[in-house]
Amino acid sequence: MEKILIEKAKAFVQDSLKHAEGGHDWFHVLRVYRNALLIAEKEAVDTTTVALGALLHDIADPKFHDGDETLGPRLAREFLQEQNAPGELIEEVIYIIQHCSFGGGFQKAKKPSLALQIIQDADRLDALGAIGIARTFNYGGFKNRALYDPSIPPQQYATKSAYRNSKAPTINHFYEKLLLLKDEMHTTTAKKIAEERHAFMETFLEQFYAEWEGKK
Ligand code: ADP
Ligand code: NI
Repeated sequence: MEKILIEKAKAFVQDSLKHAEGGHDWFHVLRVYRNALLIAEKEAVDTTTVALGALLHDIADPKFHDGDETLGPRLAREFLQEQNAPGELIEEVIYIIQHCSFGGGFQKAKKPSLALQIIQDADRLDALGAIGIARTFNYGGFKNRALYDPSIPPQQYATKSAYRNSKAPTINHFYEKLLLLKDEMHTTTAKKIAEERHAFMETFLEQFYAEWEGKK
């Protein structure tokens, strides 16, 4: 791994995300970076690409930048060029940033590269389990959404902008995204971790409804 480049990328991301929403901040990136390197241990993949892709994947998330999908790739390119990173590495990292997001399932890469698969898995693992639950309610609060409203059922969105602009209660996001993720994992390592985190979220939901009804 290109140690100096990775260290510079960490400092760059940490600084860029200092005002980020709590679920998409530097610590999210750090967890994704660690998950990605853990998954990569079992795969024949270039770890520099995985490390940089993970570190830069949320450098300017479109949902916090008026839907602008070009800003993240542009900032990442500028940073990597300044560091004199090889052109091929830059292109692979940009490709990862452009295709990483779940985005309601509307922008699936047709044949994701192995590095992209690993980073998608790592990013999706951070959407599951206890951390996944915490991030989801934080985002719901950030958007001033209700926790739960039994009269508003989960739905399938027709377009990415409908998914993004939904005002549905936060509990609905479990059915619209989080509980679907375990079947979307690419690698064996991530599938295993996802199963456990998925089960934890199901337990959480059962308890949530029981408390809602005053049964526990
Ligand atoms: P994507 O854009 O690929 O769907 P995000 O980066 O938006 O992925 O999702 C990251 C996390 O942000 C989700 O796992 C969830 O915790 C939170 N999040 C995103 N959209 C919503 C939403 N509509 N309601 C609640 N949480 C959300
Ligand atoms: Ni992310």
